[in-house]
Amino acid sequence: MSRFLVALWALALAAQTDEVRNPRTSPADVAQGEKTFRSHCSPCHGFKGDGGRGPNLANGVFYHGSSDADLLRNISDGIAGTEMPGLFYSPDRVWQVVAYLRSLNAASRPASAEGAAQGMALFKSKGCVNCHRIAGEGGRMGPDLSEIGKTRSVEHLRQAIVDPNADVRQRYWFISATDASGKAVEGYLMNEDTYTVQFLDMGQRLQSLPKAGLRGYKVDKASKMPSFRDKLTGGEVTQLAGYLSTLRPAGGAR
Ligand code: HEC
Ligand code: HEC
Repeated sequence: MSRFLVALWALALAAQTDEVRNPRTSPADVAQGEKTFRSHCSPCHGFKGDGGRGPNLANGVFYHGSSDADLLRNISDGIAGTEMPGLFYSPDRVWQVVAYLRSLNAASRPASAEGAAQGMALFKSKGCVNCHRIAGEGGRMGPDLSEIGKTRSVEHLRQAIVDPNADVRQRYWFISATDASGKAVEGYLMNEDTYTVQFLDMGQRLQSLPKAGLRGYKVDKASKMPSFRDKLTGGEVTQLAGYLSTLRPAGGAR
């Protein structure tokens, strides 16, 4: 048999026994994998794999399978019926990307069950629940966090808690103005065109006002979330971020 066929046969056999192991795991491979990731994957999966349009790949939990063989298949072929495209590179190049993902996973370990339970208690006692809903309970000033663990890494969650201004989604830009009758109006900017501005006021009502009548129209891109850098210990931030990272769609894990 040719070397190529032997290699194929070995790979097929290993796939059957689910023993495929990444052959490209040197530091140079990780670095090359990171380059490929930055140019081809980060537009959907985030600069550090921490999620965006596509899921978070940094926390080591994969819905479509977590073995090396699963990752090789999902990245090479894509995932049918979803936005995840096939990469169709040589297996070596895909293995390097897998090695990079594994390096992120190691740096972003999931929370211990105990830490997550403490994080859940802190979420209430520190007032997060006043602005954020989880499973239908809580305030509406900030995003619903019921499934935040699907798209965000532990690292991203930590940053969101201690430095909210680092990354504010456009949905949370804040407009304040005075309307034609002299009344102050404010809320989250939803949309604006040449003549009108639409925003969600603090009572969750969608408002549309003609721009011509607005005075002192101002859009603030800073977060409405206060930084908790000085209000929580490092350990508490870890517990909160760990807890949030466990929040995923029910029945999503396969
Ligand atoms: C056009 C956007 C897009 C690009 C580009 C993209 N992905 Fe994805 N990817 C997705 C989406 C969306 C999913 C989720 C599919 C689903 O489950 O619905 C996904 C899923 C995945 C999964 C499976 C995750 C899991 O939980 O099992 C892996 C692994 C993955 N992508 C890796 C990559 C890598 C590596 C690259 C670059 C080579 C890449 N993706 C490029 C959108 C993208
Ligand atoms: C006064 C209201 C308020 C409080 C209190 C608050 N948040 Fe927020 N939070 C927001 C708003 C508004 C945003 C959206 C803007 C942004 O990204 O900073 C946000 C964003 C976030 C995000 C980022 C979500 C994403 O999609 O990346 C996380 C995580 C988060 N908050 C966690 C917490 C935790 C944990 C606490 C308690 C320690 C907390 N928040 C307290 C209002 C609040």
